[in-house]
Amino acid sequence: WSTLVLSQLHLCAALWGDSAQQVIPYTGPIPGGLHPGEIIIIQGTVPPDADSFQVDLSSGCSTKPRSDVAFHLRPCFDDSPSVVCNSLLQESWGEKETLHQLPYKRGAPFETIILVHKDGFKVAVNGTHLLEYKHRVCPNVVDTFSISGGVRVHAIGYIPNSAIYSESGDLSVPYKGSILKGLSPGQHITIRGQVSLYPHSFTINLCNSKTENIALHLNPRMKSSVFIRNSYLDESWGQEERELLYFPFSSGEYFEILLLCQSHQFKLAVNGSHLFEFRHRVQDLSSIDQLEIMGDLELIDVKLW
Ligand SMILES: *[C@@H]1O[C@H](CO)[C@@H](O)[C@H](O)[C@H]1NC(C)=O
Ligand SMILES: *[C@@H]1O[C@H](CO)[C@@H](O)[C@H](O)[C@H]1NC(C)=O
Repeated sequence: WSTLVLSQLHLCAALWGDSAQQVIPYTGPIPGGLHPGEIIIIQGTVPPDADSFQVDLSSGCSTKPRSDVAFHLRPCFDDSPSVVCNSLLQESWGEKETLHQLPYKRGAPFETIILVHKDGFKVAVNGTHLLEYKHRVCPNVVDTFSISGGVRVHAIGYIPNSAIYSESGDLSVPYKGSILKGLSPGQHITIRGQVSLYPHSFTINLCNSKTENIALHLNPRMKSSVFIRNSYLDESWGQEERELLYFPFSSGEYFEILLLCQSHQFKLAVNGSHLFEFRHRVQDLSSIDQLEIMGDLELIDVKLW
C-alpha cells in the first residue's frame, strides 16, 4: 500500500508548512478530523545524537488537562531500538504496543506515511510497511498533529480526501464511495470503466449520505440511446434533461467519464469530448458526499481530484 500512497503523494502537495524546515516541537491543525483514506506524511532526519522522537495525533492541543492522544508513535534509539505506540485517554496511558525493530537510523533522512484506515493507523517508513495500530478511539476526533523530540522535520503534509473512499474497499458494482468533505467547485471526478456485453443501462448518482437526495442522477440507457440526467430531492424526481449531441456508450466498450463540478453547474465529458452541462439543483455542494455507481458496467478506476 505504501507505494500506492507514495504515487498519490507526488500528485498532491497539500503541505502544512512550506518545504522550509519546521521548528520542533511542531503542532498543526487537522481541520474536520481524520477520516479513513486520509494520509499524513512526514519527511525528516534523525540527528546523530537523538534518543527518541514522537508523533502524536490528538483531539485538541490542551496541556492541562492533557488532550487525549489517539495515536502516539515513538521511535527509540537507545540500547534496545524499538518503536512504541500507545494512546492517552483521560490523562492516562493505555497498554504499550512495542515493535522491536527500528527502520529509522540516527543521522539518516526518512519519509514516514501514516494512513488512516477504517480499523487502524498504518505506518510505513521509506516506502515499506512498518506497523498497524488498531484504533482505540474514533479517528474523527483527531484534530491536532504534533511532532517533538530528537528529529529535524523538512516537510509535513496532510492529505485530506486523497481519493473517494470506497466503502467496500474495491471497485465492485454496486459501488458506493464517500467524498470525505463533500464536493466543491473546481473538483473533478473521473470514472473509468467498461460497459457490460449485454447492457440495459447504468446509473451514476451524486447524493447525500444522510438523506435520500440525489443532486445529480446520470442514467445512460443503451437500447434507446438515451442519456437521462435528473435530480431526486425531497422524495420526488425533478425535470429530466435528455438533449444529447450523440450517445457515447456502446456494449462492451471502454469509456472515461470526466465530471467537472463548477460553481453553478456540472460539466460532463466522455472520452475527452464534452457532452452536456447540468445546472446545480442542490446549492450546498458540500452536502454532496456520496457517489453511487450501479448497473451494467465494470469499474476500472474512480478518482476525485
Ligand atoms: C530513507 O531513504 C532515503 C532516501 O532514499 C535514504 O537516504 C535514507 O538512508 C533512508 N533511511 C532509512 C532509515 O533507511
Ligand atoms: C474511448 O476511447 C477508447 C480508446 O482510448 C476506445 O477504445 C473506446 O471505444 C472509446 N469509448 C467511447 C465510449 O468512445
